[in-house]
Amino acid sequence: MTNQEIINETIEYFKENFSGEGTGHDWFHIQRVWKLSKNIAKKEGDLDMFVVEMGALLHDIADHKFHDGDENIGTEKAAEYLSKYNIEEMPKNKIVEIVKEISFKGMRVPTKMSTKEGEVVQDADRLDAIGAIGVARTFAYGGSKNREIYNPLVKPVCHTSFAAYKVSTAPTINHFYEKLLTLKDRMNTNTGKKEAIRRHEFMESFLQNFYQDWEGSL
Ligand code: ADP
Ligand code: NI
Repeated sequence: MTNQEIINETIEYFKENFSGEGTGHDWFHIQRVWKLSKNIAKKEGDLDMFVVEMGALLHDIADHKFHDGDENIGTEKAAEYLSKYNIEEMPKNKIVEIVKEISFKGMRVPTKMSTKEGEVVQDADRLDAIGAIGVARTFAYGGSKNREIYNPLVKPVCHTSFAAYKVSTAPTINHFYEKLLTLKDRMNTNTGKKEAIRRHEFMESFLQNFYQDWEGSL
């Protein structure tokens, strides 16, 4: 099987298994991250595109948030998925490593990627968490977990450990302060950073409007 055939089959697998998911981790999220990753990679140059594309397609194969907090589930499922193909150790390990390292784990918790390919995919995933789509996904996720939209009595928290970040059940607006607004300063690539600034500005404007509307004044 050629690398392109593996990519095509993987696209079909995720279309089939992740369509219609309602928390913002659906096939279309995967597709956006895949497209963004390819576009960022083209600008950053000299990368293993098979690793970039497969890392992007597999990055949300099994998230701890939907598997009782199991932090190893993504790595296991990605390795299991790839084992059905005859792929050399080097690209295979790099792809699994992307799935293992990609997630945000709290404001004060470093999430360094081991490869340049991983940096690209992490930037793409984070770009899809901010801006207009980021706002939509965040409230979809909050609703799916029965969270309040906003509660002025519950203040945002600066998480210093993944354990503390993981168990938070705060209102959805808090997620902007606990994660989304911090992402633009955590981008890996220059291409990602530039695009993050545009999307960040939209979120700032969204929040400003939100508080204005909240007050009920005209
Ligand atoms: P990563 O993409 O770094 O692995 P997640 O999968 O946790 O991070 O986050 C992806 C998106 O899911 C977030 O950007 C947000 O839209 C939504 N999300 C995750 N956790 C929360 C939360 N506590 N409240 C609201 N939305 C969340
Ligand atoms: Ni993702």
